[in-house]
Amino acid sequence: MADIYDTKYIEELFDEMAESYEKVNYVTSFGFSKRWRTQFVRNARIETRAVVCDLMCGMGECWPAIFRTMADDARLIAVDLSNGMLQGAIRRKAKYQNRSIAISKQNALASDLEKEFADTVVSAFGIKTFSDEQKTILAAEMHRMLKPGGTFSLIEVSVPASRLLKPLYMFYLKTIIPLIGSVFLGNPENYKMLGVYTEKFGDCRRMKEILEAQGFTVEYHDYFFGCATGLSGYKNV
Ligand SMILES: C[S@@+](CC[C@H](N)C(=O)[O-])C[C@H]1O[C@@H](n2cnc3c(N)ncnc32)[C@H](O)[C@@H]1O
Repeated sequence: MADIYDTKYIEELFDEMAESYEKVNYVTSFGFSKRWRTQFVRNARIETRAVVCDLMCGMGECWPAIFRTMADDARLIAVDLSNGMLQGAIRRKAKYQNRSIAISKQNALASDLEKEFADTVVSAFGIKTFSDEQKTILAAEMHRMLKPGGTFSLIEVSVPASRLLKPLYMFYLKTIIPLIGSVFLGNPENYKMLGVYTEKFGDCRRMKEILEAQGFTVEYHDYFFGCATGLSGYKNV
């Protein structure tokens, strides 16, 4: 059986999903993912002239929210490992001619990004596909990239604690979304995997402990009764 946390496996999964990802994401989230991106970017407390790193940027879905907070001459560095997803980011970049956007195809766990280059790191819906060991590496990488006092915000689809909501939401993630995925010509097996990762991920509590151990001050956030959870805070000086 494939190692579902293997980087190559993840890269291929998102390369395959890239064609349908945006449409499926839009239709299946009922506008929630857009609202969640706005809220979690607000929690990053981006300074107007900041250098911001969007880790696991996908097709740049977070950029509208990020650019609302940044001055025209601020810089965005966007990182992802899937060529398929990055094709979408390249298309989106064309719509932001007056913005400084550097797109970098890299593994966020072993990037060549400079030490302490970023004022803020944001990352949306990318940490569920990491094992605990990889989450520790990611936290160390975020610590390396951020300036002292630099801020961050993460968000991830999560398993809500409510006994009523949990079975309904998991049925939706594991059964309905794959069906909708197939309507948009995506491979339902790939969309099922997103439900599998979410179930294993649970919520952001483990990531909070890991970030605190790496030298971050961290605040925990529930988005819509825990259907997504997030973390924000800063690198301790
Ligand atoms: C669910 S998508 C989220 C995309 C986008 N941030 C959004 O808000 O929709 C997760 C993204 O994380 C990327 N990813 C997963 N593991 C990665 C890694 N180790 N390094 C860089 N990108 C990674 C995938 O290629 C994919 O584009």
